[in-house]
Formats: sequence, structure tokens, C-alpha cells
Amino acid sequence: MSFSYKILVLNGPNLNLTGMREPTHYGSATLDEINSALSEAASSLGIETVFFQSNHEGDIIDYIHSALDTFDGIILNAGAFTHYSYAIRDAIAAVKVPTVEVHMSNVHAREEFRHTSVIAPVCIGSIAGFGSFSYHLALAALIERFKKN
Ligand code: DQA
Repeated sequence: MSFSYKILVLNGPNLNLTGMREPTHYGSATLDEINSALSEAASSLGIETVFFQSNHEGDIIDYIHSALDTFDGIILNAGAFTHYSYAIRDAIAAVKVPTVEVHMSNVHAREEFRHTSVIAPVCIGSIAGFGSFSYHLALAALIERFKKN
């Protein structure tokens, strides 16, 4: 199959524990299961997905840099880095690859510190609160973006 677009799906700290970690917030599906469902949905639409998870800020930054000239879009759940990592924010701004911020939980209905996103201003939009379906909504948002360009 030849793919028309390529999307990088990045997950940050603690998201490797999805499925067993705070299931009331993040559900019971594992990250592998969530990624497989997203990969299937994307490939049926002619979109290639590449997945990466890290608990380390620098690794996430390196992957964002690698998207330059290689990926058409990024789906990013930066986990807690969302709330304070200016370095990840600067990486997104530097590569200028359209990036959708994703959260499975509704961060705005949770603790005060989760209400701030330092990456939101450099993303094309943010999705929160729909569990693993948040990633699918981000995919749909990127596809709409590709159609316009
Ligand atoms: C999260 C929300 C963050 O506040 C939290 O630190 C996470 C997961 C989410 O997917 O809802 O690790 O990004």
C-alpha cells in the first residue's frame, strides 16, 4: 500500500503504563492496544503512522526534531510535560510540523496544574477528555488540515 501522508504519534512520561495506571482517568486498554487501533484506522485512510513513547524529555524533543521534512503531522500526548516543558514547546515551534495536543482525560476537570498547557500555543489544536478516542479525533483533525494544504 502506498501512503499519502505520514504521522508521528508521540507519547510522553508514564503513558507506557496506560491500562494499569489510574484506569478511571486513562481507561483499561494498553498503549499497544490504543496504538494498534489508531494504526489500523489511519492505514485504512491511506495514512502511515509511526509510534514512539518515552519517559525522557530529551528523547521526545529528538523525535519532534526527526519529524522535520519526514512527517506531515504529529499527534502528541506529552503527559505531564504538557504543563511545564518549554523545551518541548520550543521543539514544536522549531520544526513547524502541524502538531495536535492530545489528552485522554479531561485535564480541565482535574487538578489546577493540569489546566495549563505550555505547548497549546504552538499546536494547531488540542483534544482532551475522550479517552483513547482522543487520538482518533486528533487523526481526523490532521486529515482535515492536510485537505486544506
Ligand atoms: C494526560 C494528562 C496529563 O495531565 C497527565 O500528566 C498524563 C496524561 C492525559 O492523557 O490525560 O500523563 O496527558
